[in-house]
Amino acid sequence: MKTVIKIFILFGLVLVAASAQDQINAMKVLGNVSKIGPLSRAWLSAKYTDVILYPHTIIKKINHESSMPDKNVKAKKARIKALYDGENLSLLIEWKDDTQNIQENCCSKTHADGFALQFPVVYDDVAKLPYINMGSKNRSVIVHLRNATEKNSDVFFESLQEYFDTYYKPVQDSAKTDYGRVFNSEGYRFVKEIKDDSALVVMYMIYKDGTWKGTLSRPLKAEYLDLTNGTFPVSIVTWDGNLSNPERIEHISSWIGVKLSGESGSDELLDTLKIQAEGDIDNGKTLAMENCAACHNFANSVTAPVSMAPNLSNIGGYATAQYLMESITDPSAVVTPGYNPNTQSNFPWYNLDEAGNHISTMPSYDWMDEKSIEDLVAYFKTLKAEIE
Ligand code: HEC
Repeated sequence: MKTVIKIFILFGLVLVAASAQDQINAMKVLGNVSKIGPLSRAWLSAKYTDVILYPHTIIKKINHESSMPDKNVKAKKARIKALYDGENLSLLIEWKDDTQNIQENCCSKTHADGFALQFPVVYDDVAKLPYINMGSKNRSVIVHLRNATEKNSDVFFESLQEYFDTYYKPVQDSAKTDYGRVFNSEGYRFVKEIKDDSALVVMYMIYKDGTWKGTLSRPLKAEYLDLTNGTFPVSIVTWDGNLSNPERIEHISSWIGVKLSGESGSDELLDTLKIQAEGDIDNGKTLAMENCAACHNFANSVTAPVSMAPNLSNIGGYATAQYLMESITDPSAVVTPGYNPNTQSNFPWYNLDEAGNHISTMPSYDWMDEKSIEDLVAYFKTLKAEIE
């Protein structure tokens, strides 16, 4: 218990300050951030970055009628802070949620509020990042997930019981946080849980005044993920227990660049993630109606059969320009997970080649001239839900 308190006293001293809009700057601090929660004083020195989370229907229902995005579900604003101590990274996410939904026990049908942070395992080529939700074949992501639950059997909690009783009783009272998991995921049906005791990951959730605050603290370097490069992408996901039942809608950000302030790291990664396509939106729309509307539904066109191809109505919110470009010119590079051959045999999204790779049934548009592709990307980047 003493060590933990000492850590808090060390914080005040910030080594590097930085500010930028659409990237997250992790501030370096003295002291150890490996176990801090939302109430730590360490956060006082860090600045918030706004991020927008867009509605996304989870894979389970993607082939279902309800995967048509509900116009009433808006994008959410969230805020994020980041700290690191040289060894560990800590992220604080804050988002509004009018209803506090706590899962009563492990097996009930109650949907809980929750959040997740995703990191691509390989991220040196920003044009080839994994599918934004749970990764994709040969492009895996590490998912850190935390649900708000009733009981707290967390080992970490137990070992610090005394500390919490004394200082942070409200933490226990407002959010019981025993559902935390780490996954290595290559898509919804290819998820492996990592139970790596050596890499202590700590996540908390606290609900107060209609707002959740969640934290993730993890080593910068673990066997399954190395974030010591100085810059890396992250994506944020939140669930509203109320909203997700029965629709299972989540809110998800695009890939956002994180910079460990003061470390060298590729600015190219950060810059590439910020690229906004500069094409002719009107021409892009015309091209989309001509080339894409037979299979895809999106804002200006809802005539394709529902399950023929992913709905693109919010794609501009959570997809990077690079991802859109790749989807258009090389559809099999990332085959959107979620298609279920058993329930949806009439419109296959992919076929298997001899090696077992998923080959998309979407035709490649690599024959299009560069300008047309840019115009298409610019148009699809505009497709996103209004912000709440
Ligand atoms: C013949 C049907 C068909 C046509 C035409 C088509 N697509 Fe697709 N598209 C698909 C299918 C099926 C998928 C899912 C498999 C995959 O990811 O390749 C897909 C996936 C995508 C994705 C990824 C979606 C996601 O949620 O990440 C994007 C982006 C996309 N298409 C854009 C386009 C654009 C832009 C056009 C027009 C230039 C187009 N598609 C034309 C069938 C089609």
